[in-house]
Amino acid sequence: MMAKIDLKLLRNQAQKAIDLTKDLKELNDIFKRYLGKRGQLTQVLRSLEKLPETKRAKVGKEANELKSFLRIKCDQKAREIKEKIRKETAKTEWIDITRPGERPALGHLHPLSQVKNKTEEIFQLMGFSVVEGPEIENEWYNFDALNIPKDHPARDIWDTLWLKPEVRSPNSQRLLLRTHTSPVQIRYMEKNNPPLRIIVPGRVFRHEATDASHEINFYQIEGLMVDKKISVANFKAIIQHFFQQFFSTPGGEKSIGIRLRPGYFPFVEPGFEVDMICLACGGRGCSVCSQTGWLEMMGAGMVHPNVFKAAGLNPKNWQGFAFGMGLDRLAMMKHKINDIRLFYSGDLRFLNQF
Ligand code: DAH
Repeated sequence: MMAKIDLKLLRNQAQKAIDLTKDLKELNDIFKRYLGKRGQLTQVLRSLEKLPETKRAKVGKEANELKSFLRIKCDQKAREIKEKIRKETAKTEWIDITRPGERPALGHLHPLSQVKNKTEEIFQLMGFSVVEGPEIENEWYNFDALNIPKDHPARDIWDTLWLKPEVRSPNSQRLLLRTHTSPVQIRYMEKNNPPLRIIVPGRVFRHEATDASHEINFYQIEGLMVDKKISVANFKAIIQHFFQQFFSTPGGEKSIGIRLRPGYFPFVEPGFEVDMICLACGGRGCSVCSQTGWLEMMGAGMVHPNVFKAAGLNPKNWQGFAFGMGLDRLAMMKHKINDIRLFYSGDLRFLNQF
């Protein structure tokens, strides 16, 4: 008798709970409450064996019917709830597949990298290899080996950023941030015998106040060509070819005038400054070239015997030219940019123009 009342009550309670719920999780709880391992109906089913045999069959039948009834109810309800959720999300989260897509923003190379690549390409076609050297350099390579002894006034040309005096290289040389790419001349000649042709693009550092044409770090491209008979004429031809290739637009090859003026650099003799005809005015004189018609592009010269000696080569056997130019300056000329600091500003309004 007890079991029968319980079953009726159970059925009513369970059905009511299932009908009322709107939530899948709650439905699951209801299922567990009645049909789970410790569920109320499960317990009734388990206690059947304790009933007198006369009742057992009847109550057992009813309990099992209730069990499948509730199962079906729960399944139905679950389907209803899921369908409802599907309909609601379809209303709010629809995708318009006819809408045009958004193009992901593509980056591109920095103008300085573009200029570096272009320069490398031109020199590689003339048989030059591209090599690199360290940005933290020691005093020997940056100065002494380049014929700039300690206490020599020529050192003042380069405003040097020194590392703390306690920090020294393994051979106890003082360390610094390289002020030019010229030390790579020595490093390369120590390890490679001439004939050789290299260019060395790289970052250099100067302890200077910044303005439109000076940065505390910038880029240079060093060049070095060594063989038995290398003359200034070889240098001039190569550099002229470089400028011509570098500044001409596709299909419109220009002949670009250059001139050499005497200049002093301790690691070359003779040394010169190389000027290029001003591209803004074609040599007539304008504000870009301070009315001179010429633009200063690089330092250069014939490799000094002391430089060969420092690199372990016999100056009697070899001749060569070297040059060093500012990569930033090249880029400024090419794109008519009047402030070097723009390259390091990270300003996309500037960078996206290249
Ligand atoms: N290293 C020089 C500088 O930073 C530039 C330079 C001048 C490099 C003459 C050379 C050279 O190789 O021959 O100002």
